[in-house]
Order: sequence, then structure tokens, then C-alpha cells
Amino acid sequence: MKIIILKNGKEACEKAALLTIKEIKKKPNLVLGLATGKTMISFYNSLVKHFNKKEVSFFKVKSFNLDEYDGLGKDDKNSFRHYMDKKLFEKIDIREENIFFLDGKSKNVNKTCKEYDKLLNKNRRDLQILGIGRNGHIGFNEPGSNFKSKTRKIRLGRSTLKDNRGAKKFALTMGIKDIIDAKKIILIATGRGKADAIMNTVKGKINENVPSSILQKHKNVILILDKSAASKL
Ligand code: GLP
Repeated sequence: MKIIILKNGKEACEKAALLTIKEIKKKPNLVLGLATGKTMISFYNSLVKHFNKKEVSFFKVKSFNLDEYDGLGKDDKNSFRHYMDKKLFEKIDIREENIFFLDGKSKNVNKTCKEYDKLLNKNRRDLQILGIGRNGHIGFNEPGSNFKSKTRKIRLGRSTLKDNRGAKKFALTMGIKDIIDAKKIILIATGRGKADAIMNTVKGKINENVPSSILQKHKNVILILDKSAASKL
């Protein structure tokens, strides 16, 4: 695990954006896994800033988001799809047909999850961007998630519901196995609230009660942290 510690969240997100842009320049048709949450807002702002300066194009990039609330679609302000549209997709040149998302409004959730997994298998992520929950969740894989889990519907835990305004009780999420399948992973964590999760991710025993601890086994992971998130390392 490579660990980069920067002064604050803005610097951490700028660093993550620069590394992402470097990957897109190396491979313009990069398959990119994307995350949502408050931490990522500054990351997307940085990507948009560099796009506006014509330093990067997303025209050939394919994106796969990690998760979506069960029951929410594009038009709902609390959906992750809405978040992504407003914070990134509408501001860059990514093509609609290259945006892949779990459909929270699906009438047949099992089928939706299976189809997403098929797509993920066909499009191995070159780079997966991750945030982390206070309880060590990645995507919406809550503590106790099987390390071999694939895309599925999951009940959200208490701390997750508290931390995410507008959250629904259930969500659809890529599994741990899907996340780990990425060739390279960049996890961004900022703020004191993430310090325990980061300590457990880096130094804790690899176990399913801390989903992020599986990252210790991945060969190409970069943690980009601010000082507060790194304070317990
Ligand atoms: C949600 C998302 C995760 C994200 C986490 C942290 O649970 N599903 O992908 O990493 O929130 O969010 P925040 O950055 O708001 O702390």
C-alpha cells in the first residue's frame, strides 16, 4: 500500500485528480470506477477544473459507479446518479453511453445486479476511485460483507444512515470482489472522522468486519489522506 499524506482535503483531492488524469492520458479509453460522498466533491471539482483548462478529455473514458440507493433514480436529488450528473458528468465531455450505473428504480433488482456484474466482468476497471465509510465500508459493502461478494442489494448500517443525508435503508452496490478486481485503486479519505477506519485499513487484521482491510492484499493501492485522516497511523 502506498500512502500519501497531504495538508488538507483539497490538496488530497487535487493529488488524486492529477493521478487520475495521468492514467487517462496514458490510456484515453480508461475504464474508471467512481465513488460518491462528501469527500469526492473536491475530487470532482479538480477534475472539472483540469478539463476546463483542456488538460484532459473524458470522451473515450468509460465510467462505472460503485453504488446507488434502492428506489432512487436520476431525477431524485438524493440519488447518486443525480450527484454524479451535477458534480461531474454534465461538466465534462464523457459520452452518455459510456456512463454505467446501477438502476435504483429497477423492478427486478436481482437481474439488475447480475447484469451489472456481467458488464463489470467485461470491463475490468483500470482505476477504481474509493472513499471510505467511518465503519470501513467501501462502496456500500458494510461490515460483514463477504470478501467474495458481487453486486447486490444490501441493508445499510446505522452509522452509514446517520452520515448520509437522504439515505435509504437499502442500496445496490458493487461487491468487494468487483472492487478488488480493479487493476489500480486510489482511496481518498479526509477528516478526523475517518482516522479509525484508516488505521484499521492499514494496520488492522484483514477481516470482513472491516471491509476496507481487504485492500492490504491488493497489489496496487494508493491511499491519499489528509493529516487528520492519517492521524492514527
Ligand atoms: C457512501 C458511499 C461510499 C463513500 C462513503 C463516504 O457511503 N457509498 O462510496 O465512500 O459514503 O462518504 P463521505 O465522503 O461522505 O464520508
